[in-house]
Amino acid sequence: MESLISKINAIGTKTLEDIATASDLAGLEIFRVSVLGKKGSLSEVLKGLGSVGSDDRPKIGAAANDVKAKIEAALEEKKSILESRDLEARLANERIDVSLPSRKLHRGALHPITQTTRKMVEVFSRLGFDLLTGPEIETDYFCFEAVNIPADHPARDQQDTFFMGPGLVLRTQTTAIQTRAMRGNEWPIRILCPGAVYRKDNDATHSPMFHQLEGLWIDKKVKMSDLKGTLEFFAKEVFGAATKIRLRPSYFSFVEPGAEVDVSCFRCGGKDAACKVCKGSGWLEILGSGMVHPKLLELAGYDPNEVSGFAFGIGIDRVAMILHDIPDLRYMFEGDQRFLSQF
Ligand code: DAH
Repeated sequence: MESLISKINAIGTKTLEDIATASDLAGLEIFRVSVLGKKGSLSEVLKGLGSVGSDDRPKIGAAANDVKAKIEAALEEKKSILESRDLEARLANERIDVSLPSRKLHRGALHPITQTTRKMVEVFSRLGFDLLTGPEIETDYFCFEAVNIPADHPARDQQDTFFMGPGLVLRTQTTAIQTRAMRGNEWPIRILCPGAVYRKDNDATHSPMFHQLEGLWIDKKVKMSDLKGTLEFFAKEVFGAATKIRLRPSYFSFVEPGAEVDVSCFRCGGKDAACKVCKGSGWLEILGSGMVHPKLLELAGYDPNEVSGFAFGIGIDRVAMILHDIPDLRYMFEGDQRFLSQF
């Protein structure tokens, strides 16, 4: 019996020494298993308890429990020491250096077309125009038929229009929205329709997708002078107070009379024969306009003897190119950061 107890005590002493020297949690666990585990040294000794007389068993059991409790307490204490040492090491290692420069934030910006559209819309809305949008996939009817473009008109040519299916096209002009606005609605109507339009065109000043801002004002006694005054206001607000406008007679099937409108060159005012903005002409063409054709009024159910109206369609991309001196329209739609970040 004595030898068994001293064996147990020896295991205890040796184990406590081992625990004291353990330098990490993994090592500590190895000591624990080697003593208290199923096949550990203490467990092995206790297996021999069966061959001991029943009088001695409680004493040996008590001695074993005592040693076991001491070992467990020592393991626990060492474990918490090692854990807090590890934690401190991690805190020291992973400390954030708040004095380091931060990662650079890249700030987004609105696309130049969006900026230009917003500016133009803001100017017209001061005159009481409301916003209206229409679908980019448009019916042949609204895009052409309803704005007096007959079936044999060149604008319907395969070479200009993207056809989407029977009776459907990608709208070639925001003028398509005019009939949508009038149909089933009473006059007066004063609307602005910005949006993308599509034509099979692609060079430095044409892109297959570009943008227009359509305007329409229908009311009693709307006159050509109202159109001129409205466009003059717009031109001065967008291109500068010294800007003049010029109307040139032109043909658009949905207006009568029709006019193309130029603004005076805001850079040279017509004084620089070598001006790269107006190429010396002194004028920049930016829009088409006119008095709404009586046929369109009739189609909407209005009486052309009672109401009249004007309409205009401005090339937004053209305005943006002029304002920012952009030589090639295609830059706008290539998504190149070096270009876009300049706005
Ligand atoms: N829709 C014409 C185009 O795309 C522009 C235009 C001209 C619109 C005259 C109008 C207008 O409203 O009255 O070329």
